[in-house]
Amino acid sequence: MNSILSQAGSQDIVIFGGVGDLSFRKLLPALYMAHLHDKLQADTRIVAIGRQPWSRDEYLSFIDSHSPAFIEKNAFSSNDWQGFLSRLTYVSMDVTSLADYAKLKEVCAQPALRVFYLATAPSLFTQICANLSGAGLIDAQARVVLEKPLGTDLASARAINTDVARYFDEQQIYRIDHYLGKETVQNLMVLRFGNAIFEPLWRAPYIKSVQITVAETVGVGSRAGFYDGAGAMRDMVQNHLLQLLCIVAMEPPISLDADDVRDEKLKVLRSLRKMDAADIKRDTVRGQYTAGASEGAAVKGYKEEDNVPADSRTETFVALRAEINNARWANVPFFLRTGKRMQKRQSEIIIEFADQPFSIFGSSANQHPNRLIISLQPEESIQLEMMVKEPGTGMTLHPVKLGLDLQQSSDKRRAEAYERLLMDVIKGRLTHFMRRDELEAAWMWVEPILNAWQAQDDKPKEYSAGSWGPAASSALMAREDLSWFEES
Ligand code: BG6
Repeated sequence: MNSILSQAGSQDIVIFGGVGDLSFRKLLPALYMAHLHDKLQADTRIVAIGRQPWSRDEYLSFIDSHSPAFIEKNAFSSNDWQGFLSRLTYVSMDVTSLADYAKLKEVCAQPALRVFYLATAPSLFTQICANLSGAGLIDAQARVVLEKPLGTDLASARAINTDVARYFDEQQIYRIDHYLGKETVQNLMVLRFGNAIFEPLWRAPYIKSVQITVAETVGVGSRAGFYDGAGAMRDMVQNHLLQLLCIVAMEPPISLDADDVRDEKLKVLRSLRKMDAADIKRDTVRGQYTAGASEGAAVKGYKEEDNVPADSRTETFVALRAEINNARWANVPFFLRTGKRMQKRQSEIIIEFADQPFSIFGSSANQHPNRLIISLQPEESIQLEMMVKEPGTGMTLHPVKLGLDLQQSSDKRRAEAYERLLMDVIKGRLTHFMRRDELEAAWMWVEPILNAWQAQDDKPKEYSAGSWGPAASSALMAREDLSWFEES
């Protein structure tokens, strides 16, 4: 029997921010998929919380008109959807008022495994936890999920962590980074530690450079209110890109237990070379998109987007060069890059292996580095670029790709990140969530960069929507005779 079905007691998933974007785009569609595939107990209820003074029916009709668009067409059936909606309850309340928690307590099953998902602004996290505690809703089984961004700098992240720790033990806290729930990201650990062939070469001097790109075609959309105060560094690099870097660079953990994995990721974050002002000037690039074309349609520049100040200096693109100061990675540059309104939606990790120490094949045309290309999305594949001989009489070589399409590698359904992570929370598995020290170590590395940009009064470099970012991003690599994957 499925382990969650064997747990005693009911389950309540309480979503703070139940009317927000994240809820109707990601969380409820993910829970619908879990419902569809019988991953939820029969009595699992979803309690959405919002400020809107709606009745349950009004909430259901809001969800009914917003969420189905975010569910895969062939997974949607009205019967199942109605069955799923019957699990939903809505509580209209002011989350800052302790008195209002009586309403929540009334609808929560007693006893129950309660998951409190805080999909609100982080500035509300402390008060929500204090009020949950004041209302007697937190017991030893309860779990809290903290959505990113967790703070805006080290001090605010620490303050939230300290406050939440007053009400929940670290083992009850699930700091979510949905990249850790992606199938291909989890597969990276298997690629590295479940196969014997790569690990011996997975280090200096056999690896020349590593590129990690998370490129999006979307713009800021309706999220300017949040995004303009954050920018790509806080929104993407501090969490998703650094987590990817950790998985690429960490030592083999002694087991898959949460703390064993998180100990190794923490060591990577602590080994990131601190950048001084000169390094930051040389090794980081900030960009902001201007009007252009995205996927065939004309699109506005960032400053023309709704609710973005006309003089905004927020970066929508970051490229940077990082180094990891440890024995495995000494002198291997890690290039990280992310941006909105880029030419293609493409998340990939490129491992470029070192050149042959000596080539018996002569001409430079015969030199091409071996590269491992790990595509995370939209394709999910692993390709190894190898040299082969071109047919004919000479000894001319050319690169070919040995490829593995991960989507075709199994008939099993590939659950979306949020579904997988929500199920992990219910099952009490913390491996794919960030520990407090990890999160703070990431801020410790990122914060000096943010500060230096501010101190240098650094204006982001412009790039046209639909391009690969500012020219300075290519120059960052060209300096070392390297290039981004799509340029090579
Ligand atoms: C979120 C960021 O964490 O990740 C968004 O806040 C970004 O700005 C999103 O668009 C990207 O996620 P995915 O899964 O679409 O790559």
